[in-house]
Amino acid sequence: MSQNPMIIAIDGPAGAGKSTVTRQVAKTLGILFLDTGAMYRAATVGLYDAGINPDDAEAIAAYVCERDISFDSTGQVLLDGVGLGERIRTPEITAEIWRVANNPGCRGHLVDLQQAIVRGRDAALEGRDATTVICPNAGLKVYLDASPEERARRRVAEWGDMDDAPSIEQVAADIRKRDESDMNREVGALQQAPDAVHCITDGMSPQAVIAKIIAWAVKRRPLLLDSVYADQLLVGRSREPGYVKVAQGSVSNPPAPWQLGFTNPTPQRLPGQVTHYARNAGGRQAGVLCQGRAVIVLAGTEDTPTLPIALPMLPQTWYVIEEGVWHAVVQESGTICAWAEASGLTEDAYELDDCAREVVNTYLSVYQPEDS
Ligand code: C5P
Repeated sequence: MSQNPMIIAIDGPAGAGKSTVTRQVAKTLGILFLDTGAMYRAATVGLYDAGINPDDAEAIAAYVCERDISFDSTGQVLLDGVGLGERIRTPEITAEIWRVANNPGCRGHLVDLQQAIVRGRDAALEGRDATTVICPNAGLKVYLDASPEERARRRVAEWGDMDDAPSIEQVAADIRKRDESDMNREVGALQQAPDAVHCITDGMSPQAVIAKIIAWAVKRRPLLLDSVYADQLLVGRSREPGYVKVAQGSVSNPPAPWQLGFTNPTPQRLPGQVTHYARNAGGRQAGVLCQGRAVIVLAGTEDTPTLPIALPMLPQTWYVIEEGVWHAVVQESGTICAWAEASGLTEDAYELDDCAREVVNTYLSVYQPEDS
């Protein structure tokens, strides 16, 4: 359990990508993901199976308030300890969720359970009321948004070349109607918290949205990434044993330009520009980009070379990146040194693809100080 837990709460209209983005943010940071929608779904399955009169709101509340809804270690939702699997996502259940979601008694109980699940833990959660009701004191609140047209485009793209697929205009009109009703419902209306960051994702890839949220989170709580999993920190070995200064930069006095350094420096390394990464033949990949508060590591294996992630930059902190082989130490603000036990690998420089470039530029857009 973290001493100073960080909650990332994400709300926003239907179809803005909350669920995919929140799940991936939690996975990358190695923190709990709470799927609040799954709890509404589980309660609905229970109602259905118990044969509760679907038109009796009091009976529904009485039934749901007696239920324990939790998750197992694989993320499967449990109703009174019993796994419900994918049944929660069937169309017949989805069509009935409103009976729980619009019932104040049910909402009160589910919010209590949700708050108990995240209490004292680093977590990312999303839902219609994550920032306003479940976690109004979250360390980072995001209102994830996209125009109805953009959401419609994404949805139609998912359907592919289906013959009778509705047009983007039709889908956008339905989305507008749904937004209107979600924002104006009497119970559990979707609202933007006044202190939530409004993130409009039109034109952004999911990876860039995820990078932006991670960057905001790390900026607010540098210790957040204490619990990053080792397999997210795969990096290359230094060619020379011993200490190798791989990158530096400073936010203060005078601010140094962004510098991209690789654990294996190459002639192609271009300070101030993020266009290439180094690749070790037979080894793992890494690039390190520093400025003041964060280190961005382009990490991955030879097959999937560029998975940018952000690390907090803490003076005098050792990161054990690959046990027994590769370590990095941040010596002072803006300076990272790499140290390695192994040598003898060969390497080449490769261009970042569009997606990796977008992700790195997203990190930069958040970390680049505006006032210096
Ligand atoms: O996220 P998901 O689609 O699984 O959520 C299912 C439904 O549960 C939503 O459409 C909404 O009606 C309800 N819900 C809610 N409040 C939440 C999460 C979900 O009302 N925090």
